[in-house]
Amino acid sequence: MTEQSTVILAPPQVAPRARVQAMKEYHPPLGCRDALRLDFNENTLACSPKVREALGRISTGDLTRYPERAPVEAIMAAHLGLAAEQVALTNGVDEAIHVLFETFLEAGDELLLPVPTYTMYEVYSSATDARVVPVLAADDLQFPFERLLAAITPRTKIIAIANPNSPSGSVATRAQLIEIARRAPHAVLLVDEAYFHFYGETVVDLLGTAPNLPSLPNLIVARTFSKAYGLAGLRLGLLAGPVELMRWIKRVLSPYSVNSLALACLPPALEDAAYLDWYVGEVLAARTEFEAALDKAGLRRWPSRANFILVEIGARHKEFTRLMGAAGVLVRDRSSDPGCEGRVRITIGTREQMRLAAVALNQALAALKIEGGAQ
Ligand SMILES: Cc1ncc(COP(=O)(O)O)c(C=O)c1O
Repeated sequence: MTEQSTVILAPPQVAPRARVQAMKEYHPPLGCRDALRLDFNENTLACSPKVREALGRISTGDLTRYPERAPVEAIMAAHLGLAAEQVALTNGVDEAIHVLFETFLEAGDELLLPVPTYTMYEVYSSATDARVVPVLAADDLQFPFERLLAAITPRTKIIAIANPNSPSGSVATRAQLIEIARRAPHAVLLVDEAYFHFYGETVVDLLGTAPNLPSLPNLIVARTFSKAYGLAGLRLGLLAGPVELMRWIKRVLSPYSVNSLALACLPPALEDAAYLDWYVGEVLAARTEFEAALDKAGLRRWPSRANFILVEIGARHKEFTRLMGAAGVLVRDRSSDPGCEGRVRITIGTREQMRLAAVALNQALAALKIEGGAQ
């Protein structure tokens, strides 16, 4: 008998909470990603060279001391046009979602989720005693505004909206978000702007003090450095919101969860706007080109305002994903997402990368005898 099987066979001495026992395991398909990574919506190239320089200046002292987030939070807040107390840096948006849910969700509460959407909302809510209320988008995967409004109840506690959404790339308009916040004053409206830079529209300004803006005391916005900034490995994200809500969130958030390297990289990442603009411009140009390649192949696709496109592959989606991987292009099968059977999400990188991806895509379609014309 191996040591491992002894452990498995031993009667459980300590049981986790019932909700944790009921949680599904979530294993994103990491591993063997030494290829063209069009599977996690990361920056496919690099972060700003200014960030690399900042990393080179890290001293032993920086590593010895506990990270000090407040001065960097103040820089981030100024960048967003907000007061320092309105911003909390986090270990990626994933920690932000986790902490937000831990702060607000309790037994009997409802988390309203337009679906399909980002997986981690459901993962983290399933560790709480709240109930997820999914609001399924129609086949066009547009934001289900009216249905979402109709699903608001007195028990709704958080409404989480990724804007742009993943995996669809669709968006909710500013007017729709304002209406939702107003119709659910007893709930937090989380607007997750992970893909903001590719979309260009934000509701962060609604948190500021500029005149003539609607007052939305229940709005919280999330941002990440994992996408356009190319810092997914550093784990850096943030929540921004009204001071009253942020105070509660900061009680739950670890003061040390953003490490010193990430803190050192944030100011140069923000300062190098030229690099960010260049990368975003490159992705948007590549997206237009790649859309044309998908249309030429006759594949159905959903209009996207982000750095990825959802594509209809059909019944052979698994083989397609595998063949693309074998050709050195990683893409993400989203078939298990609600309403996404047969659909694959492809991250947009640079034009050069997407030309390679288009070649691999056409070869995979030909090998699998997938005919276009699904549009
Ligand atoms: C909508 C959305 N929010 C958040 C994240 C995760 O961000 P982070 O890497 O900062 O945890 C993702 C990653 O794919 C995402 O799609």
